[in-house]
Amino acid sequence: MLKSVTLIAASTILLASFSTSAALSDKQAKNAVEFRKSIFQLVKSNVGPFGAMVKGQMPIDEALIEKNATRLHQLSLMLPDYFVADTRSNDVQTSALDKIWDNQGDFNYKAQNMTTKSKELLDAVQNKQSDEYVGKMRAIFGTCKACHDDYKAD
Ligand code: HEC
Repeated sequence: MLKSVTLIAASTILLASFSTSAALSDKQAKNAVEFRKSIFQLVKSNVGPFGAMVKGQMPIDEALIEKNATRLHQLSLMLPDYFVADTRSNDVQTSALDKIWDNQGDFNYKAQNMTTKSKELLDAVQNKQSDEYVGKMRAIFGTCKACHDDYKAD
């Protein structure tokens, strides 16, 4: 008896996970695309001042670096979750390349590099290693490019 209940429970879970990963309605897919693009808009907003600091267009501001590096770290942690939804077969406006869902391990690894690099900047600013800031900001931009080169349409 117990055994069959467990079996039923297991197959229900299996079915449930199949139905979420297989077919998304176009409405669900549209939402998924909107959410992941929103994360990137926040990423862009928070990395903007780093671009200006790297180029010497604005003075180094440690409080701002700390705040935005913290945010970028958090945002990077959301990326794998918000790319679970496989929108390949839906009619959506997206620059995400299909091969993301053939290479989710590598995609998530590239997201994790953004996590690592934003944490390194955060550590540097908290330890007042001011000669490291520019290099570590550049390293964050490197993680954007590495992922876009492989997984984002131009
Ligand atoms: C792990 C992969 C990955 C990383 C890391 C990454 N991106 Fe992206 N980015 C993407 C993908 C994929 C898209 C396309 C999303 C879509 O159109 O559905 C995208 C889209 C964007 C967009 C357009 C969003 C929109 O509204 O259409 C911006 C801006 C952006 N990324 C900025 C950045 C910046 C800045 C960084 C680094 C700080 C970064 N991304 C890091 C994969 C990544």
